[in-house]
Amino acid sequence: MKKVLITGASSGIGKNIAETLANSGFQVIKTARRKINNQSGYFSADLSDIENVKILYNSIKSSYGSIDILINNAGEYLYSPIDLMKEEDIKRIFNLNFLSHYYLTSLFVSDMKKNKFGRIINISSISGVLGEANASLYSASKSAFYGFSKALALELAQYNITVNSISPGWVDTPLTQEALNKEEKEETLDIIPQKRFVEPVEISNLVKYLISDEAKGITGQNINLCAGLTCGC
Ligand SMILES: NC(=O)c1ccc[n+]([C@@H]2O[C@H](COP(=O)([O-])OP(=O)(O)OC[C@H]3O[C@@H](n4cnc5c(N)ncnc54)[C@H](OP(=O)(O)O)[C@@H]3O)[C@@H](O)[C@H]2O)c1
Repeated sequence: MKKVLITGASSGIGKNIAETLANSGFQVIKTARRKINNQSGYFSADLSDIENVKILYNSIKSSYGSIDILINNAGEYLYSPIDLMKEEDIKRIFNLNFLSHYYLTSLFVSDMKKNKFGRIINISSISGVLGEANASLYSASKSAFYGFSKALALELAQYNITVNSISPGWVDTPLTQEALNKEEKEETLDIIPQKRFVEPVEISNLVKYLISDEAKGITGQNINLCAGLTCGC
């Protein structure tokens, strides 16, 4: 049974990926910031502090050994003009959205190389593809996944390890509910070509395909799953 680790698995997209993969026969290991008592396979860690990455890795390694599939999903959205950005926001968002995942990947990849199998999926955002005014920090933290995915895909290709990014548009999750008030929600729906938010399960189904044997030739790619938002206007 293939072992998959999902960050940000307590809510929204990550929670749905965890449920979908558990129902599809994978052994699912989950992590997120909140504390959840007595849930087997769940590890609480605040990934905005890089020090916690090594602690998390050691806990998972001692309980489960190696993992086969890593889904780098945990993230936080921040809407703010650049001149109002605080130093602690810059560190927190970049640490959580990108650096913690870079470090976590670096720790788990040695076993994948030894096992000659691995699948790494980075959940980016169309804000990293298109840029989003007043979300420069979030956009930058998400576009960092592109260079990372392509470079790592090349580096790991000979080990039967694939590395890909998925860039969702607006998805119906608690993050979106918090980011948009009722009026903004209506305005946003109006500019999305399909006039709807993406459902978390659509991301999960794409993850399921990208980690499957059928998709072993797909590596170093980014797929925009955005209900048409990146097609133009
Ligand atoms: N929703 C969208 O429209 C959308 C669009 C494009 C990309 N994305 C990306 O998709 C990913 C998931 O987003 P979502 O919409 O599912 O958001 P969500 O419902 O708010 O879930 C975010 C997840 O990240 C975890 N997390 C937040 N801060 C953390 C921290 N400091 N340390 C460890 N874990 C932390 C949360 O854990 P706790 O709740 O337990 O703290 C939660 O499990 C994010 O990377 C987001 O940027 C979302």
